Amino acid sequence: MRVLVTGGAGYIGSHTVLQLLGAGHDVVVVDDFSNSRPAVVGRLEELGGRPVPLLAFDVNDTDRLAATMSDEGVEAVVHFAAFKAVGESVAKPLEYYRNNVGATMSVLEAMLRTEVAHLVFSSSATVYGPDAPVPMTEDLPTSATNPYGWTKVFSEQLLRDATVAHPWLRVALLRYFNPVGAHPSGRIGEDPADVPNNLMPYIAQVAVGRRERLAVFGDDYDTVDGTGVRDYIHVEDLAAGHLAALEWIQEHDRALSVWNLGTGHGTSVLELVHAFEEASGRPVPYDVVARRAGDVASSWADPTRAEQELGWSASRTVAQMCEDTWRWQQANPEGYPAV
Ligand code: UD1
Repeated sequence: MRVLVTGGAGYIGSHTVLQLLGAGHDVVVVDDFSNSRPAVVGRLEELGGRPVPLLAFDVNDTDRLAATMSDEGVEAVVHFAAFKAVGESVAKPLEYYRNNVGATMSVLEAMLRTEVAHLVFSSSATVYGPDAPVPMTEDLPTSATNPYGWTKVFSEQLLRDATVAHPWLRVALLRYFNPVGAHPSGRIGEDPADVPNNLMPYIAQVAVGRRERLAVFGDDYDTVDGTGVRDYIHVEDLAAGHLAALEWIQEHDRALSVWNLGTGHGTSVLELVHAFEEASGRPVPYDVVARRAGDVASSWADPTRAEQELGWSASRTVAQMCEDTWRWQQANPEGYPAV
């Protein structure tokens, strides 16, 4: 299959591109490098053993996207390209709505014009909102607490509406829990542009000496040790979930599918800190500070639907997540080179 991957130079996108190549698919990447580095492309080619065509433009350019899809003979789309910083989305809501919801509309419109039916969409467990019970199932109502989260809810809704209007579409909404880890080669991984917002890259930067101490956001939650509990999933398992979803929607006649991609297990902030210390042999000093606005105590998936329908489940352990993150961080302490 010839698959267009938007945001294919990003963290989850790059790992998915590699697995698509490994499964024998042809890949065309569209990425404007607004939150990724061109250097990733050479590494994908090195690991994948073949050229990865990359077109550098914003997917909001619908005409160019549609032209690319017909010129390249695209048969399916995996749509990652989006902004994802929660705090920034609160400060710049219009930019988030325009960029993220706009991009989903643009991808969809280009698909309708070129009659491409298959789409895998990068959604998030954030759509379950702040009051969802754990474990979270796909049937829970959706909601959000910040503009970033709403861009995922709105994108899901417009895809849902489009499948009603155009029942030949085959759309998968993948709701990720907390992606961490890196390719086992240590050549590709997560490379936050600024101070990391997320826990795992922050821990990794402390361990490597790039930052002094981790701030643990609250230790008075109703959890195993008072710190927040999340369902961390290895990015390699997550990428495999995309492949499984893409193949499933190709073989089945359901217009809209929703799958959680998580492990079904929760890990606390301090448990992750200690697992990382173990994996790296480095100390991760931390201070407990106030809770972060908008955080919930616990979030983990019920991954049963993906297991039963896709035959997919996450197999990598928290120890592997830490080991692979550490290998990437040690080999690339400053992330990808700027060139
Ligand atoms: C966050 C976003 C979520 C987004 C996801 C992926 C919020 C409220 N949620 O999820 O919408 O989909 O990232 O980008 O921002 N923690 C610390 N110290 C840190 C960083 C995090 O203690 O420096 C704690 C948090 O309080 C939380 C856990 O670590 O308990 C995980 O945090 P994080 O990695 O930011 O993920 P989420 O908050 O689950």
